[in-house]
Amino acid sequence: MAFELPALPYPNNALEPHMSARTLDFHHGKHHQAYVTNLNNLVKDSPMASQSLEQIIKATAKDESKAGIFNNAAQVWNHTFFWNSMKPNGGGTPSGTVVERINAAFGGFDKFKEQFKQAGATQFGSGWAWLVLDGGQLKVTKTPNAVNPMAQGQTALLTCDVWEHAYYLDYQNRRPDFIQTFLDKLVNWEFVASNLSKAG
Ligand SMILES: [Fe+2]
Repeated sequence: MAFELPALPYPNNALEPHMSARTLDFHHGKHHQAYVTNLNNLVKDSPMASQSLEQIIKATAKDESKAGIFNNAAQVWNHTFFWNSMKPNGGGTPSGTVVERINAAFGGFDKFKEQFKQAGATQFGSGWAWLVLDGGQLKVTKTPNAVNPMAQGQTALLTCDVWEHAYYLDYQNRRPDFIQTFLDKLVNWEFVASNLSKAG
């Protein structure tokens, strides 16, 4: 059973004007699709063809000889997680356990937003900004290229793709503006709450 590109959880114009249909067409339909195609080509006729993405990511994360498989498997997983990290009319301040945990970990919701924005803005080159659970502690992190929290024993709660292909059509070089808009208008806090409750 080959890996397949999951459908977006909303229509491709549902995040406008903050993320255009054109960006989603390229980002989901071309970039995300290419990682799926590459992964299928790399694992076909090997035992990995019947494993889950999570199994492949964990098995290849520390193996330089499998960097191509890791990069494509992790990018398939990361993008699906990113689409689910957003929703139409998202952003703003979460409620309940999520905001309580964020306030306790970062000293306030605004401080969390500053850290998240800083992480994404300062990731040199391509990569990702994350809210993760690490040993029971909420943390903001950034990772280069395809690296993700799962590869480092952490649980991902939220991510923002800061590769140029994520924002260049809509924001050109203004990555900080893209991350600010992600936080203010796009974050799906129910997805974060669900990830947090699954992680315990
Ligand atoms: Fe991307």
